[in-house]
Amino acid sequence: MRGYEPIETASVDELRALQLERMQATLVHSYENVPHFTRAFDQAGVAPSDLRSLDDLAAFPFLVKDDLRAQYPFGMFAVPRTNVVRLHASSGTTGHPTVVGYTAEDVDMWATVVARSMFAAGVRPGDIAHVAYGYGLFTGGLGAHYGAEKLGCTVVPMSGGQTAKQVQLIRDFAPRVLLVTPSYCLNLIDEMEAQGMNPADSSIEIGIFGAEPWSDGLREEIETRLGIDAVDIYGLSEVIGPGVAQECVETKDGLTVWEDHFYPEIIDPETREVLPDGEFGELVFTSLTKHAMPVIRYRTRDLTRLLPGTARTMRRIERISGRSDDMLIIRGVNVFPSQVEVHVLAVDGLSPHFQLIVSQEGNLTDLTINVEANPATGRSSTELAAELARRIKDHIGISAVVKIALNGEVPRSQGKAQRVVDNRR
Ligand code: DLL
Repeated sequence: MRGYEPIETASVDELRALQLERMQATLVHSYENVPHFTRAFDQAGVAPSDLRSLDDLAAFPFLVKDDLRAQYPFGMFAVPRTNVVRLHASSGTTGHPTVVGYTAEDVDMWATVVARSMFAAGVRPGDIAHVAYGYGLFTGGLGAHYGAEKLGCTVVPMSGGQTAKQVQLIRDFAPRVLLVTPSYCLNLIDEMEAQGMNPADSSIEIGIFGAEPWSDGLREEIETRLGIDAVDIYGLSEVIGPGVAQECVETKDGLTVWEDHFYPEIIDPETREVLPDGEFGELVFTSLTKHAMPVIRYRTRDLTRLLPGTARTMRRIERISGRSDDMLIIRGVNVFPSQVEVHVLAVDGLSPHFQLIVSQEGNLTDLTINVEANPATGRSSTELAAELARRIKDHIGISAVVKIALNGEVPRSQGKAQRVVDNRR
């Protein structure tokens, strides 16, 4: 199996040796140049020289989003600010945004992992790639853009929004590749239909979807309606942006982590112990080649498990089921919006447009699911609502109120979908 670069299929021994060498260098670089790491390592009583094997990483302290916020804006940089050629930032709902910086070498490494990801998705030099991830402080647009250029594609830097114009350009430029969030892709498909076009007849053959959780049910819906291969891309700004892990189109069995640049661990979010491969927990990353802003054991809050390599030597992560911060607790039962998505898509006659409304009644938390019916369905609203409520009760174990909304009533995603409206705050 050929990848974009030989390291993707190198032996596990070769990969582990490279990781160890790079991890040692990253620890030294971080300890010597970032006061936060100097303090945190000293407090934990560890020094970079204590890392003699990859397992020794477990002795080093974790890094969390609040640590990054406390260093706003440039306190986590490990190089002089004048060597930083690019900034991005994640919005964050409270407090300061998290700022990330890149040297020219970092930007090039990022472009390489995105090019590698696109190659694994089946994209080839010469393809036209329509980028509908947002450009700006969000890493989606520019991350995809540089990777697509590096691979040798013709890039359409559309960014998010202007849905009617997106569809017009897709008709005119005939891209083979679409890069967008899965929820906004649904919006594009609806707009194609509104313009009298059959989405399956579009030029698009490959969709690279990420930046938010999505289910296999949604993959099937998008693949069928657009007539494409839909694959998952994962990443986060703190670690680099998109291109930390990518699903290979030949297997579609979870996302290969580009382990030569990003070292993954899974921990129990409560005890913070490292869990063996195969066990479910919180994903943690240590960057192995970043210069401007290395991260050591960054807690992503994303929940998944590590699996052995298949299409590549490197390990895979299972599709992210959700973030620990997005987990709802409804009368004692843990629920992720992506679990609800599975059942919405399984009911014949419902559209994939839904939102969860959480409210508080006395001491009890209530969940209402607002979901649109497929305009073409012959089934009644009562029937549809009853079937979804029954599925949610049987499979997830909670009683939810299901409201069938009118076509267009559920807000459409322009980027990352807002799946939960929490009226308790
Ligand atoms: O969302 C980077 C990105 C852009 C990834 C485009 C893929 C495509 P942030 O805005 O920092 O960066 O948000 C990162 O989004 O911790 C996950 O919770 C979530 N996320 C990203 N990709 C996936 C995915 C970008 N494939 C946060 N599946 C992460 C599920 C994802 N969740």
